Amino acid sequence: METPTGTPTRTAAARWAALMAARAVPDEILAHAPASPYRQDPERFRAAAEPPDTPSRRAAVAVLAASSDRTVLDVGCGAGAASLALVGEARHVVGVDPASDMLAAFVRACLEWDMPYQGVLGSWPEALPDTGTADLVLCHHVGYDTGDLAAFAAGLTAAARVGVVMEIHATHPQAWLDPFWDRFHGVRRPAPPTADDALAVLTELGVEPEVQRWTAEPRPVEDPDVRAARVTRRLCLPPERAGEVAEALATHDGPTAPPAERVTFSWRP
Ligand SMILES: C[S@@+](CC[C@H](N)C(=O)[O-])C[C@H]1O[C@@H](n2cnc3c(N)ncnc32)[C@H](O)[C@@H]1O
Repeated sequence: METPTGTPTRTAAARWAALMAARAVPDEILAHAPASPYRQDPERFRAAAEPPDTPSRRAAVAVLAASSDRTVLDVGCGAGAASLALVGEARHVVGVDPASDMLAAFVRACLEWDMPYQGVLGSWPEALPDTGTADLVLCHHVGYDTGDLAAFAAGLTAAARVGVVMEIHATHPQAWLDPFWDRFHGVRRPAPPTADDALAVLTELGVEPEVQRWTAEPRPVEDPDVRAARVTRRLCLPPERAGEVAEALATHDGPTAPPAERVTFSWRP
């Protein structure tokens, strides 16, 4: 695509795809990684016993209040933190996730909370024919997992009968690791995608979401050894280098966790 003056321009969707592609782990590092840097630990995504009163939860409750069936589709459900915050509000939840350990944790949590559920193993948006539609489509913290945000978000809209609530970090949640990629691998990463880039993709799709920017409560303090082991894996380093990583984290002059700033996008299909 070109402007009338001949200057090349890019769509917001193409910009998002390029920003995400530029952050991919280089093939030669990935090939030697002792474990997948992408695997997430379901324990870290457990639903809170007392759901936090966040703008995302309030937006979801408003959608359910306007719906007759009170059905929920949780895209990238992980262990169910987003949908299980709606126990007592939702009547049935479908969780979809490509990670079988996450989906198993979602199923356990639904049984524990006595929430009628269906689990679907699959990736969004390809899994849409298997999940079907729901009154409320929720999607928390998955946006930065996809290079094709336009197709992903269009799928959310297509699946929603009453409303969509999408929550993401204000900036890519792994961007704080960039100085460590440089330090341990000499990999310099470009500026990360942000929620504003995601908003531009939604706008390009014709979606005019309500946008709420807010700050999440801090996560509980984590055992430093557990944290160092996780960061070591994320950096594709062998477990025996966890001590070095712990030292680097302890002495780093900058953020050592994802940002607390969150953005909730909500829209009607
Ligand atoms: C950071 S976790 C968030 C889990 C949960 N939504 C929460 O907020 O606690 C991201 C989840 O999205 C899943 N995921 C990544 N890409 C996906 C895709 N294309 N379709 C569906 N789920 C995806 C991952 O397997 C993981 O369980």
